[in-house]
Amino acid sequence: MKRLETAAVLGSGAVGSALLEELPRSGVKVLAAWTQSSGLAPPPLTDVDVVLLAVSDSAIAPLAARLEVGPSQLVVHLAGALGLDVLKGGRKKGARVGSIHPLRAFVRGRRQDFHGAAAGVSGSDASAREQLKQLARALGMMPLETTDRARALYHAAAVLAAGSQVAVFAEAMRAFRKATGASEPAARAALLPLALNALEKLKGQTAPEALTGPAARGDFATIAAHRKMLPKDLLPLYDHLTNVMLQLSEDARRKRPRNRP
Ligand SMILES: NC(=O)c1ccc[n+]([C@@H]2O[C@H](COP(=O)([O-])OP(=O)(O)OC[C@H]3O[C@@H](n4cnc5c(N)ncnc54)[C@H](OP(=O)(O)O)[C@@H]3O)[C@@H](O)[C@H]2O)c1
Repeated sequence: MKRLETAAVLGSGAVGSALLEELPRSGVKVLAAWTQSSGLAPPPLTDVDVVLLAVSDSAIAPLAARLEVGPSQLVVHLAGALGLDVLKGGRKKGARVGSIHPLRAFVRGRRQDFHGAAAGVSGSDASAREQLKQLARALGMMPLETTDRARALYHAAAVLAAGSQVAVFAEAMRAFRKATGASEPAARAALLPLALNALEKLKGQTAPEALTGPAARGDFATIAAHRKMLPKDLLPLYDHLTNVMLQLSEDARRKRPRNRP
């Protein structure tokens, strides 16, 4: 199987800029780069091994349909939420298609690379999948195969692991500010070390092992006291998370060696 040696990067936002910076370092020559605000049409792409569509999700399908590509080429998007159907424009012209989704948050204007992130990889055939796994490794990522059937579930998991943590943190700040009268920056500064420390533990421990707090200790009196004081609209979230924590704590107890207290 031929390694991907040359690329075109379409889009120069958060992910496009990182690709333009990191592909040459990983041994892939960028022969063409394009962004819509140039006002020009996408350049001819027939000379590159892989065309990376680093554009907004809604722009991928129309852009793929406009591309001049052929059978020896691979047309790829980077969207976590989308399957390969959005690349049918490229497929119709004979190109193989695929997706490489870095499981990392990129911010426009900030220099970031791909090292240490996992990458969801899918492809229209085995060679596309292998080439994209190889590309992910060259960029410093750990590739994981994904399928179109499980794509929404895969992406939901990524959202639960990222944006949902921020949402839970925002609700914790709301309760904290009600309790202390702290300003938003003060509440954020007070709670952030706790949140980071809790997630940091997951580097070396499973979720049941990393769990702390009253549910982990089976302290139902404290849980009842929390429920009395929390704003009513926070109770469904608190109760759901408490049930998850009780289940994790039960899992940890079952896995503990019998002779340990
Ligand atoms: N950001 C992340 O954390 C992250 C992580 C993993 C995967 N992704 C995926 O990476 C891809 C790019 O996301 P991003 O975060 O880099 O987005 P972004 O920073 O918002 O940049 C979007 C790019 O798409 C271009 N674009 C917007 N509308 C277009 C259109 N109608 N036709 C052609 N180009 C258009 C923009 O061009 P102009 O700037 O010239 O307007 C810009 O270059 C998306 O599929 C996204 O889901 C993002």
